[in-house]
Amino acid sequence: MTDPKRVAILISGSGSNMVALAESMTGDHPARPVLVLSNDPGAKGLDRARAMGIPVAAVDHRPFGKDRAAFEAALMDRLAEARPDILCLAGFMRVLTPGFTEAWAGRMLNIHPSLLPNYRGLHTHARALEAGDAEAGCTVHEVTAELDGGPILGQARVPVLPDDTADTLAARVLVQEHMLYPAVLRRFAAGDRTPVLLP
Ligand code: GRF
Repeated sequence: MTDPKRVAILISGSGSNMVALAESMTGDHPARPVLVLSNDPGAKGLDRARAMGIPVAAVDHRPFGKDRAAFEAALMDRLAEARPDILCLAGFMRVLTPGFTEAWAGRMLNIHPSLLPNYRGLHTHARALEAGDAEAGCTVHEVTAELDGGPILGQARVPVLPDDTADTLAARVLVQEHMLYPAVLRRFAAGDRTPVLLP
């Protein structure tokens, strides 16, 4: 058996997708988590990763101000130590420059809470409700220089219910995120880019 793929997970917040990914990488899974990295030293997800025994690091973006390249160089330094084969963005709320996305082309995934290509960017659930959509969902895609625009690797759909608010819809989609992202990562780490479609 070949060595498992090394996965670094980038977070900014609570890290529930990170936990779902990390918990999935056991047994015959073709990957293992080697680092959880945050741009926010106070991110709750760092504590959760620590509790799971995963190495953690933070590169605070704030001292870098508008200098995204310098912030990303610091991320790169930290990643170089962990030697990941794959990066998973999981609620990582910094826009990455083409220099970074090109360095990780074909090796970096993201989860986005909409059925892409609908609703790139922020406030996806409110926008789906406003549009009167009958269904919503989430997408895992490869990260390219185009924000939320890379090749789609999987999608999961949920119904929009009559009384939904952005919060209730987000909670229903998040349950699916926690199933979709691990399913896509398992397939991707095994070298298969066929999209996963849930449910
Ligand atoms: C998820 O909805 C993800 O799709 C979005 O931010 C949220 C992150 O949640 N971009 P968590 O940090 O994984 O709990």
